[in-house]
Amino acid sequence: MKVKIAVCGKGGVGKTTVSGTLARLLGREGTKVLAVDADPNHTLFLSLGIPPEVAEKIVPLTENDELVQERTGMEAGRSFGGMFKLNPRVDDLAAKFGVPAPDNVTLLVAGTVQIGGSGCMCPAGALLKALIRHLIVGSGEAFVMDMEAGIENLGRGTTRGMDALVIVVEPGYGAITTVGRIQKLARDIGVDRVLAVANKVTSEQDRKTIEAALAERGVPLLGVIPFDKEIHEAGLLGKAPLDHAPDSLAMRAVQEFLGELRVILG
Ligand SMILES: Nc1ncnc2c1ncn2[C@@H]1O[C@H](COP(=O)(O)OP(=O)(O)O)[C@@H](O)[C@H]1O
Ligand SMILES: [Mg+2]
Repeated sequence: MKVKIAVCGKGGVGKTTVSGTLARLLGREGTKVLAVDADPNHTLFLSLGIPPEVAEKIVPLTENDELVQERTGMEAGRSFGGMFKLNPRVDDLAAKFGVPAPDNVTLLVAGTVQIGGSGCMCPAGALLKALIRHLIVGSGEAFVMDMEAGIENLGRGTTRGMDALVIVVEPGYGAITTVGRIQKLARDIGVDRVLAVANKVTSEQDRKTIEAALAERGVPLLGVIPFDKEIHEAGLLGKAPLDHAPDSLAMRAVQEFLGELRVILG
């Protein structure tokens, strides 16, 4: 199954847990999966089960100044006063910089760029946008991207071919209000399908509160993942939840969520 999704939400809600687990579950079915880390605090390696000693050597593409300069023709830090290519070559980056993970998954740490209010355009940003556009549209593989809440990096035109933007929500005012902001950004950049998964749910009241808030905004809730001590423990130990607690309630809930995704995406 070739699911192409981006996962976003407020910090700490469980984006990395959900996206890494989804990537591996998809990979287990035999699909080649590209897991893209586009969070400035890149920790997707953890939930994929890539050892820290391998991960610490990874340089995010947008922080690889030499690469940015080589591909765009301009130094990374300079956003004004120089010309650079808006459409740099990116088709070889996944093969060159991808790191193998378990279950048929490849991790690509794309990194991110800080985007100012006016929508800054800089060489690293041009490389990132071109890369995302290429990976979503051009790759025949499944694609799961772990992002921060500021999804501006997607940019108009990069999302064509993406199946859905998945917002992870936890019980809490902050995470719930973030949904509205992400929804607006999604509209601005032309993402049609936005859906949600609730995580760290501890009670029926949690679930109902999230459900009501999402219903108000017209965002479908496709999965409910309980707060799970075993996942918390995996987080403390720096282990992939799927390796540490494969049969936990939370991991089963992610599997169910994938089933729902499959239904809605046809
Ligand atoms: N369902 C859950 N139950 C318990 N702890 C969880 C659950 N989901 C995530 N966590 C823990 O919450 C912390 C943040 O999760 P993470 O996936 O890194 O969030 P994000 O990527 O959104 O910042 C981690 O320590 C993780 O182990
Ligand atoms: Mg994260």
